[in-house]
Amino acid sequence: MIEARGLTKRFGSLVALENLTLSIGPGEVFGFIGPNGAGKSTTMKILACLLTPDAGSARVAGYDIRTDGDLIRRAIGYMPDFLGVYDDLTVDEYLQFFAAAFGIERKKRKGVIDGVLELTDLGAKRHAMVDSLSRGMQQRLGVARVLIHEPKVLLLDEPASGLDPRARIEMRELLTELARMGKALMVSSHILSELAEMSTSIGIIERGRLLYAGSIQDAYARVRAGERITIALEPGGRAAAEVAAVLSRDERIAKVGVEREGGESGTERLVVELKAGKHGHHFLFELLLGAGARIGSFTPEGVKLEDAFLKLTTGALQ
Ligand SMILES: Nc1ncnc2c1ncn2[C@@H]1O[C@H](COP(=O)(O)OP(=O)(O)OP(=O)(O)O)[C@@H](O)[C@H]1O
Ligand SMILES: [Mg+2]
Repeated sequence: MIEARGLTKRFGSLVALENLTLSIGPGEVFGFIGPNGAGKSTTMKILACLLTPDAGSARVAGYDIRTDGDLIRRAIGYMPDFLGVYDDLTVDEYLQFFAAAFGIERKKRKGVIDGVLELTDLGAKRHAMVDSLSRGMQQRLGVARVLIHEPKVLLLDEPASGLDPRARIEMRELLTELARMGKALMVSSHILSELAEMSTSIGIIERGRLLYAGSIQDAYARVRAGERITIALEPGGRAAAEVAAVLSRDERIAKVGVEREGGESGTERLVVELKAGKHGHHFLFELLLGAGARIGSFTPEGVKLEDAFLKLTTGALQ
């Protein structure tokens, strides 16, 4: 559905994209990961025919980006990293506007909008003002908007940015459902862990160069998962389940598990999996103490996925 060969794009003397080659098939969720300025949005704009590459070629939904721009625009849904601001519009009016823009017949519009609202779980917000929606709902509305014309290929630029863990799970479910419908998805993020669970394959880009592309299983097999820390709790403090609930609300934490050793009265342990980032793990002490835990031991294990990717690649991915 997406075949890019040797794509190169310069802005003046800056090489924003260098010889990028990748391919994405139907039902695939390609997680496109890289730090700010890596070239993710540039790649997506080229594939959406909003930018012309200086070299290389690409086919999207079977069409050539250099000659078939109109056909590609009809076959894809491109969600840019910034949604426009639409004051004084309800969700329904917003989608009606785009349905009209996509040339969907007036009498079919209601059915189409019903469909995308159901898929994105926004039915209850149909008559709410767009600017009254939470960030997560606005992101889902952004996806709803690009589904209106039933595209086969979706290019979603940072759809999960700024979402809380719950909204991220909802986004993940939505994208997984779209992949199950046979669409090809390219989804960008600057945080690997944000996409790791929803992607079937990933690409790591830095300074315009694709450093790694392959299945997520291969990636996991080659590196260890995100940093995990095991914390034994001493009796006399808050119960592990309560501490876990506090920790799981923190944005830097991916997962918190509770383990118990030696029956009902045994030692309780928390197994915390951190998200990738520059935060290290020392912030956990403060969180744990703040939550009323009594720390018996604190054992970091494993490595951050991002660090591990450093070993896979020669780049300086943050
Ligand atoms: N229209 C433009 N004119 C000049 N330089 C540009 C233009 N668009 C992008 N660039 C440059 O190209 C490089 C890649 O930018 P791009 O927006 O593709 O990065 P990105 O991976 O999407 O980053 P982010 O995570 O911040 O969204 C950057 O150095 C950027 O400054
Ligand atoms: Mg970008």
